[in-house]
Amino acid sequence: MFLPQLLKKSATGEKLAVLTCYDASFARCMARAGVDILLVGDSLGMTVQGHGTTLPVSLEHMIYHTAAVVRGAEGLFTMADLPFGSYQESPAQALAASTRLLAAGANMVKLEGGAVMVDTVAFLSQRGIPVCAHLGLLPQSVNQTGYRAQGRERKAAEQLIKDAAALEAAGAQMLVLEAIPTLLATEVTQLLRIPTIGIGAGPHCSGQVLVLHDAIGLTGKPPRFARNFMPEAADIETALQAYVHAVKAGTFPGPEHETPA
Ligand code: KIV
Repeated sequence: MFLPQLLKKSATGEKLAVLTCYDASFARCMARAGVDILLVGDSLGMTVQGHGTTLPVSLEHMIYHTAAVVRGAEGLFTMADLPFGSYQESPAQALAASTRLLAAGANMVKLEGGAVMVDTVAFLSQRGIPVCAHLGLLPQSVNQTGYRAQGRERKAAEQLIKDAAALEAAGAQMLVLEAIPTLLATEVTQLLRIPTIGIGAGPHCSGQVLVLHDAIGLTGKPPRFARNFMPEAADIETALQAYVHAVKAGTFPGPEHETPA
């Protein structure tokens, strides 16, 4: 599936169900479960490689996992994270890294950051590369912010709204909102034409994303915004189907998964 079909689906009001995916077997399972977007997230630094952060993940690692995911679920929309250090230096550096992820089969790249990324987003999107921006909690900035909810103070919320509008104007075609209050995510979603994909951002985004390992109970101490779908499921595929169904029906996330205002 290419981006226009996905955007059309989202425009009908159908919520997009997104999961992180790092290999071919899970990609096949997610395709059968009806997941809309596979995100080859740099969270693989933690879930697959055992690091404490996403920072050690290299472009080579992302290419390897993207190619594996695409082999497993050819035809399913796949988004790949630009890893830390592969795009922040210049738009040209981001183009070189994105080119390699698209050559590995990704349909879209995701990058973290607000105003500072506007020129890069414009540069990539003018060259045929679909870009998903990422605002709120930015795991690649953990050394500055820690893993803390963002956008809770008025000034920070206003800045996030400005950043979202600027990224969309620059050509971003999707926006991940991580760990921000529901009200702020709702305002951003209403303001933008592009889909917003929430994680810890309340139920009113255009879609939801979860880290696979949180969704199937493999994370020791999952974040408050995550839900383990395994206890009520007979097997992993059924759990992933339940996730997709809950997102589409608007029953996940619930109030207990929201980021406090
Ligand atoms: O890498 C990742 O898993 C992500 C999600 C948290 C959105 O970027």
